Amino acid sequence: MLENSVINEDKGLENDFFVRSFLVQSKPKVVVDFLTASHWRYEHEIIPKIEQNFIRLIKTLPNEPTLPVIFNLFLKFQLSLKLHIRMEEEIVFPKYLCILKREGEISMTGSHEAQEPYVNEIIKLLNRTSYSKNPFCQLLIQRLDKFEIELNEHAWIEENIISKNLQ
Ligand SMILES: [Fe+2]
Ligand SMILES: [Fe+2]
Repeated sequence: MLENSVINEDKGLENDFFVRSFLVQSKPKVVVDFLTASHWRYEHEIIPKIEQNFIRLIKTLPNEPTLPVIFNLFLKFQLSLKLHIRMEEEIVFPKYLCILKREGEISMTGSHEAQEPYVNEIIKLLNRTSYSKNPFCQLLIQRLDKFEIELNEHAWIEENIISKNLQ
């Protein structure tokens, strides 16, 4: 059951320059609600679907030893992303919402730079494998591509709207 429409389900709200210009002019609560909703989708929709894709591919190609290794990289990445999300929701976003009270300072500078190459490296590794043209692998790569674009846009919003105001 390999349908391109599956990919459309993942379409992020963030892949759009209109979203940037809307959020730049929005109140802090609107920006935080938007980013928190994206976090929820990452954790509860996109990451589980990518994990399912990996598991299905491993079942389809049980004799490919590189596949579980690449899956393990993704599992590590999603764990660090979830920690990053917790840090933002519990520390950074509340500080941003209280910015007018000037309660200390916190910056997100650098925190995205460490994460961004990760998905890209996983995509590159999959593209270099002998099974990269397998339809299930193609579906997985498409999903990771979309996720990477969305994460980059998400980081742009956080760095250019939230971080700038916290410095
Ligand atoms: Fe975030
Ligand atoms: Fe972030």
